[in-house]
Amino acid sequence: MEKFFITTAIDYVNGAPHIGHAYEKILTDVIYRHFTQRCDKHFFLTGTDEHGIKIQKTSAAQGMSPKELCDMNSQKFKDAWKALCVDYDKFIRTTDEYHEKVVQKIFKKLVDKGDIYKHSYKGLYCSGCEAFLSEKDLTEDGLCPDHQKKPEIVEEENYFFKLTKYKDAIIKHIKTHPEFIIPSFRANEVLNQLENIEDISVSRATSNVSWGVPVLGDSEQSIYVWIDALSNYITALGYDIDGDSDQNFKDFWPATVQVIGKDILKFHSIYWPAILMALDLPLPEHLFAHGWITIDEAKMSKSLGNVISPTSVLEAFNIDIPDPLRYYMATAAPCGKDGNYSDEDFKEKVNAHLANSMGNLLNRTLSMLVKYFEGDIKPEFLEKNELKEKALETIKSVKHHFDYLEIQEAALRIIELVDATNKYVTDNAPWTLAKEEQMEKCGVVLTNVLQVMTVIASLIYPYCPNIAEAMAEQLSYDIGIKLDNIDCEYIKAGHLIDKENIKPVFLRIDSELADKNKK
Ligand code: MSP
Repeated sequence: MEKFFITTAIDYVNGAPHIGHAYEKILTDVIYRHFTQRCDKHFFLTGTDEHGIKIQKTSAAQGMSPKELCDMNSQKFKDAWKALCVDYDKFIRTTDEYHEKVVQKIFKKLVDKGDIYKHSYKGLYCSGCEAFLSEKDLTEDGLCPDHQKKPEIVEEENYFFKLTKYKDAIIKHIKTHPEFIIPSFRANEVLNQLENIEDISVSRATSNVSWGVPVLGDSEQSIYVWIDALSNYITALGYDIDGDSDQNFKDFWPATVQVIGKDILKFHSIYWPAILMALDLPLPEHLFAHGWITIDEAKMSKSLGNVISPTSVLEAFNIDIPDPLRYYMATAAPCGKDGNYSDEDFKEKVNAHLANSMGNLLNRTLSMLVKYFEGDIKPEFLEKNELKEKALETIKSVKHHFDYLEIQEAALRIIELVDATNKYVTDNAPWTLAKEEQMEKCGVVLTNVLQVMTVIASLIYPYCPNIAEAMAEQLSYDIGIKLDNIDCEYIKAGHLIDKENIKPVFLRIDSELADKNKK
């Protein structure tokens, strides 16, 4: 793989980040970190989507200007991603000047090409979706199925984009590139939607929606959300219409993976390819549509009062690293399916996997090595490595799962390796070997376990970067080693484990403490 470029959806800033937004950013960060372990040239883009009627209305209700609301909330997203160790390379805001300028040029190019035309229109507009809906998109009660709100009737003269011109080319692309839409079961949904597509409105009258990028040469119209929002993926890389794009664009476009929620797949699998085709640009390799996160099996909504902020989870459980939440969220659902968050399940899962199985295994192995051998690996301990095959097989299958964006499944393979290693320790009982003074055998067992622990540290790193780094430090292991260079023989004779360094890498979440903190 020569380069890896991954993007997330850019979030609306009419509110603060919630755990659904966090789910997507964590998932993307985990995928990104895994591929940094396989490739040297990589880029991770995220950001915020700041124009539109939703922002305009919310800012008015809060007695602020739209820009003030955007500045305040965009910062909250940045702060949340920092707290969660979401390590992006670039954060774009659609109110960034360079972005707005290029969006105007893109719009103009499409007008000049005849792909955008003016047309009077009457339609049903859902401000939740920031899109026009057709009658058949609505529920029996005439509501938007995603936002449970009645769309408003909008009658305006708008600019329209000739989506229908690109219909056949998009159908062909989807059919000839089965890896384009992940999971593949969503491709059929998109093909069905494509059957009935019409040209789409891409501007709004400034008299109704003033908070948007103005159309060049037409002060009555603002460019409306989707051309503005979708273009972020190329403007952030320094794309320019006159062929004067920055090196980042040349190096990284087309994207390797674009991560989005299933609710906005239509915009990314139909509108976005059409815009790219109109601009004569290549399409992204994969669109990964993840499922939705529910809270205690209920849809998250302000009216239900169950909207959870990701950082409040860390505070409530008194956790000073985001790793457990990252691990839990990234493994919350099989590829593309919905997942659920519950406090109880969170506690149970991270205690079982990260504290009891993985952390404890490292801690007791290192402690025994210090107790019996003063932390010294002797040459005769390296004679055989019975677990090596299993560890190397696990690297292969983790890579395979990541190639198919099966992030939960990859974690299951890692935990299976942890479980197999724990079983190996139980079966070989190094403490009994030491008691029976079979010291060489005891040293071999402990060394085998530590070799595998280096592999586990590398594999768990994308999910739990802080825990992995702490494991690597105690093992005197280089966590930056590329997955292809791991041979499960990192620990050599003379490799010293420092007694002072040994401490648990992750403590169980204490339920009483967590409950007390919550109150
Ligand atoms: N601004 C648009 C995206 C433009 S991309 C060019 C938007 N914003 S959003 O804030 O509503 O959603 C941002 C992302 O968060 C979307 O991918 C969406 O699917 C995801 N999620 C929002 N709520 C979610 C859950 N409850 N669960 C999982 N992801 C969800 O759409």
